[in-house]
Amino acid sequence: MPVDEAELLAGFEATIGHNDRIEPRDWMPEGYRKTLIRQIAQHAHSEIIGMQPEGTWVTRAPSLRRKAILLAKVQDEAGHGLYLYSACETLGVSRDELTRRLIDGSQKYSSIFNYPALSYVDVGTIGWLVDGAAICNQVPLCRTSYGPYGRSMIRICKEESFHQRQGFELLATMMRGTDEQRAMVQESVNRFWWPALMMFGPPDDDSPNSAQSMAWGIKRNTNDELRQRMVDMTVPQADALGVTLPDPSITWNDERGSYDFGAPDWEEFWDVVQGNGPCNKQRIDHRKKAYDDGVWVREAAMAFAAKGTEQ
Ligand SMILES: [Fe+2]
Ligand SMILES: [Fe+2]
Repeated sequence: MPVDEAELLAGFEATIGHNDRIEPRDWMPEGYRKTLIRQIAQHAHSEIIGMQPEGTWVTRAPSLRRKAILLAKVQDEAGHGLYLYSACETLGVSRDELTRRLIDGSQKYSSIFNYPALSYVDVGTIGWLVDGAAICNQVPLCRTSYGPYGRSMIRICKEESFHQRQGFELLATMMRGTDEQRAMVQESVNRFWWPALMMFGPPDDDSPNSAQSMAWGIKRNTNDELRQRMVDMTVPQADALGVTLPDPSITWNDERGSYDFGAPDWEEFWDVVQGNGPCNKQRIDHRKKAYDDGVWVREAAMAFAAKGTEQ
């Protein structure tokens, strides 16, 4: 009996409608598969590329304690990348292929990682703001419609919350220090605030794929909703730290029950996405070198595996 695609589609839509999960062996529309591959790959690439800005500070940590924390954090990000590559592989694309698409630029990673970490304070700011934004983005993804993606998010979110707290704690420690240390924190927050808000992607009016992703239950909130959540979460934390967010238009709006805030420089955002950020080239060159340097490891592993099947 020929498989009736309309029937399969109806089954798929019923599963989405009940907020049940789509699993790897279930039938899914090609568009759903492609959207998921793009989103999960972009997410995985962000975790892996995201190790670079902070990773440069591992050898220059100011104390053994800070070094242990940073090492743990950077290793967690590698783990996140691996869970997500595995989730993506269940959609029928190999990790090797995904790495190639990252290196040749046909798949993207989060624009934030094209900004440099200029001092150790940036480790704190990245933890507080960048991992903070990641949490806002990722908590709703624990309920995403694709099973392997949602399940990987649960563990990732727990670790992101450790990342955010270690960042906040580093900054709080600096804020209790000298005037010079406080000035370093403020300067770092000034640099990261707007790029952190850009992590949620373009405004909803300018985000053509969002509606379809929401209809498929891949995304649970729009970019602007998540950005608002980030601002509402962060303003009281900035007050507690004693830093000023570099946006004079932040004010509490009683009617909305949220903070009003200004718009990021979207021209800068698109410019960075198109490859012209301060570190785009450096990030991809570094990843490519790691991939090329790893050829012998992959070849040895394949040879070993082949030997195993011969016996
Ligand atoms: Fe992560
Ligand atoms: Fe993180």
